[in-house]
Amino acid sequence: MSTAAIRPLAAERLADAAALHALCFDTPWDEPALARLLAMPGTFALAIADADEGAPLSGFVLVRIAGGEAEILTLAVVPPRRGQGLGRRLVEAAAATALAGGAATLFLEVAEDNEPALALYRRLGFREVGARPGYYARGQTRIAARVLKLDLGATSLS
Ligand SMILES: CC(C)(COP(=O)(O)OP(=O)(O)OC[C@H]1O[C@@H](n2cnc3c(N)ncnc32)[C@H](O)[C@@H]1OP(=O)(O)O)[C@@H](O)C(=O)NCCC(=O)NCCS
Repeated sequence: MSTAAIRPLAAERLADAAALHALCFDTPWDEPALARLLAMPGTFALAIADADEGAPLSGFVLVRIAGGEAEILTLAVVPPRRGQGLGRRLVEAAAATALAGGAATLFLEVAEDNEPALALYRRLGFREVGARPGYYARGQTRIAARVLKLDLGATSLS
């Protein structure tokens, strides 16, 4: 059982979040980019870290709420902590926060070859509602994004 706790991502940990993002994505978002996103109205970020004070971040999720809809802008868990339920906990907490913030639905885009993420979202009840051909770069080629949706009112996520 993980002792990791979820808290709002503090401004002083944005550099840590950017370093974590770089471990998880080919085209990561740096600290200024994360700061700009977080400054947008309706945007929030949750981080997960071991309970000990000053423990390094294990993951974070960034979400924007607008017009009754929420969107996961990014989700990342450090490689050594994957497969321990942290990603699921982050998405569940993001969904609960988005619902409390007035969102009825939660959307996201995910690369069609990202099996771990697709498995996580399917397990949580997301449904595919669209696709964006050629949305992500993969070396010299491009790959489609799937658009997934979760109805927050209909979910039992805590
Ligand atoms: C996607 C990601 C966030 C998942 O985080 P995680 O903490 O490893 O996920 P969890 O341990 O919470 O897994 C939850 C569920 O997802 C599924 N899952 C997760 N990783 C999986 C894998 N490698 N293979 C198959 N299923 C997987 C399982 O169904 C699991 O359910 P279970 O608890 O019943 O076993 C993580 O792999 C990651 O950061 N990847 C790189 C960044 C990324 O792709 N972000 C998403 C962009 S849309």
